[in-house]
Amino acid sequence: MGRTVLVIGGGGREHALCLALSESDSIQAIHTSPGNAGTQHFGTNHGVAASDIDGLVELSVQLEVDFVVVGPEAPLCDGLADRLIGHGIPCFGPQQVHAELEGSKLFAKRAMDAARVPTADYDILDASSDIEAGLDARANEPWVIKRDVLAGGKGVVVTTNREEARAFIEESIQSDGHILLERFLPGEEASMLVVMDRSGFVCLPASQDHKRAYDGDRGPNTGGMGAYCPAPVVTDKIHEKVLDRIVQPMFSYLSSQSIPYRGVLYVGLMIDEHGDPYVVEFNVRFGDPECQVTLPLIAGDVGELLFKAANDELKQLNVEFKDAHALTVVLASEGYPKSAVKGRTILGADASLDSNATWVSHAGTALDDDGRLISSGGRVLSVTSVATSLHEAQALSYQRLSQIQLQGSHHRKDIGHRALDS
Ligand code: AMP
Ligand code: GLY
Repeated sequence: MGRTVLVIGGGGREHALCLALSESDSIQAIHTSPGNAGTQHFGTNHGVAASDIDGLVELSVQLEVDFVVVGPEAPLCDGLADRLIGHGIPCFGPQQVHAELEGSKLFAKRAMDAARVPTADYDILDASSDIEAGLDARANEPWVIKRDVLAGGKGVVVTTNREEARAFIEESIQSDGHILLERFLPGEEASMLVVMDRSGFVCLPASQDHKRAYDGDRGPNTGGMGAYCPAPVVTDKIHEKVLDRIVQPMFSYLSSQSIPYRGVLYVGLMIDEHGDPYVVEFNVRFGDPECQVTLPLIAGDVGELLFKAANDELKQLNVEFKDAHALTVVLASEGYPKSAVKGRTILGADASLDSNATWVSHAGTALDDDGRLISSGGRVLSVTSVATSLHEAQALSYQRLSQIQLQGSHHRKDIGHRALDS
């Protein structure tokens, strides 16, 4: 007898979650809210927005779901998990007190201090601070300035331009009261997704995102233009250090609290030239597009993994991973990330052209009144492939992407380059 699950969100991450849940023997029915044109193929999309906490609780109760999987961070920061648990509904995604790890950079720093986890040193600047002196103190490296609020990926500026740094600090202090000025960490980034509950944790294979809009890691920052998994920059030795210095201490710290962490802890890593890992950020959800390349490498029932984590039963599970490589390339709308042109027809994204090795994950897609697929967001879709080599996964994704047409769209042509060129 399978379970009924409600997935909250409507991006590429949620499409990937629905796909993995649809392949899980433990799952009988999938509901999504609000979902997108891709998720509807796995079950039922509902019209409640991911920001409507009351509406989502009501929907979960009404559907009598066995558990809820929350994709994005905002509803978690707004206490959705707390409300669901209050109704006896297990939730994959942490309660408000832990969602602050993503919602507040200062909260995350204090948690890392308490758990003795390596991260960049920082200063707090507020209206009474001498901003020029603060900038002087870190003038021999790029300035890393972080707002202490949930800013949808726009809360961090890394710059060598003093004017830009000063302006961002002044604006942020005015709107938020204070900011963090952080030591610049040189190195290579990787993402480690750790499924966690009170009983234990499971590290999923490390992945690497491509945050800049254009080839060669140039252009403005985006939500992520593509990813691959596993990321060879995280060697076995580095993986061991990440476990010893970061994951195990964070697990001990979080699981000793009265409310345990139940969900996935996204550890954004910077690995320095000595192979030492530092935490750049925590997120309290799967990464997007990291989720698209990580879930397909889990051998076994993803629905069972998420359900167990929502119920503090992770320890009972033995999770194994496929000996394979996954890569996804994001197709973005004209103008993304500055402003996205939406409402254009998408051709060639039909599921009938997909295969077991290559498929389209929908993100900003919708159906128009005539049932035609149109773009409805900045990141429109991504093409994911799984193969025995990263090279092959890359070739498959770009081949499938070449069949898709969306006027004015753009994508990076070098996803996977760090692993393939090294
Ligand atoms: P965050 O939202 O904290 O992940 O920051 C966004 C991006 O800024 C990261 O993915 C890094 O590329 C960069 N970044 C953040 N903190 C640092 C740091 N201390 N040193 C170097 N780069 C950083
Ligand atoms: N891909 C980066 C993130 O999900 O935060």
